[in-house]
Amino acid sequence: MMIDTHCHLCKEDYENVEFIVNNMGHNKMIAAGVNDTTNQEVLELIKEYPTVYGAIGIHPTEVGISSQSSLEWIEDNLKEDKIVAIGEIGLDYHYGIEEKEKQMQFFKKQLDLAKKYNKPVVIHSRDAIEDTYNIMKEYRGIKMVLHCYSGSVEMAKRFLELDVYFGVGGVLTFKNSRVLKDVVSFLPLDHILLETDSPYLAPEPFRGSKNEPKNVLLVAEALALIKGISAEEVIDITTKNAFSRFDLNKSL
Ligand code: NI
Repeated sequence: MMIDTHCHLCKEDYENVEFIVNNMGHNKMIAAGVNDTTNQEVLELIKEYPTVYGAIGIHPTEVGISSQSSLEWIEDNLKEDKIVAIGEIGLDYHYGIEEKEKQMQFFKKQLDLAKKYNKPVVIHSRDAIEDTYNIMKEYRGIKMVLHCYSGSVEMAKRFLELDVYFGVGGVLTFKNSRVLKDVVSFLPLDHILLETDSPYLAPEPFRGSKNEPKNVLLVAEALALIKGISAEEVIDITTKNAFSRFDLNKSL
């Protein structure tokens, strides 16, 4: 069984979410919310589809349209059976640092929630790796996942010391993903999770088109080539990793 540990299944992106979920067969996926609207959608998805788990959180680029009540809603709904993580949360300075303080405030408040309720977190970090690391270091002990990791091997070493798991997706199949290939060669397989970040980052040969969770198989195959093992072994190990990091047994 495969698990796409990070996808977005918003109504805005897919005309027929049921079709997309069914394409995964008996495989599982974790749908992540990014704001009030999509967090609510995640709640509906996990109730409707047995194979879909959920993560709820306020994404750094969504802090502008979010408020204290967004965080209270998240806290209230963490007790839902199939909500397995807080995410996607983090820091993103790609479009500027005007909201840096607010991003940090939301990031920390959600990490506080993770600590309080013993929940894993799924972290997004873009153009903000040092600040992300420094905050994560303060929260050592929380089960953390860096989704779509795009940093250096050196940074990966430092995150590994915090027992962070790394979400690896379609970028691994891109010709110009030299750094990520080096990172993945370096990373121990027991700290890697497969993901798609659908509808974004479709792997080759679908690069540029709309991604979907079933393409996680292509990520597994790319990872298998780098690690010199079979795709079956990659799937087997990374599924075990996902079960342990997200306590999925509790939600079955
Ligand atoms: Ni995402």
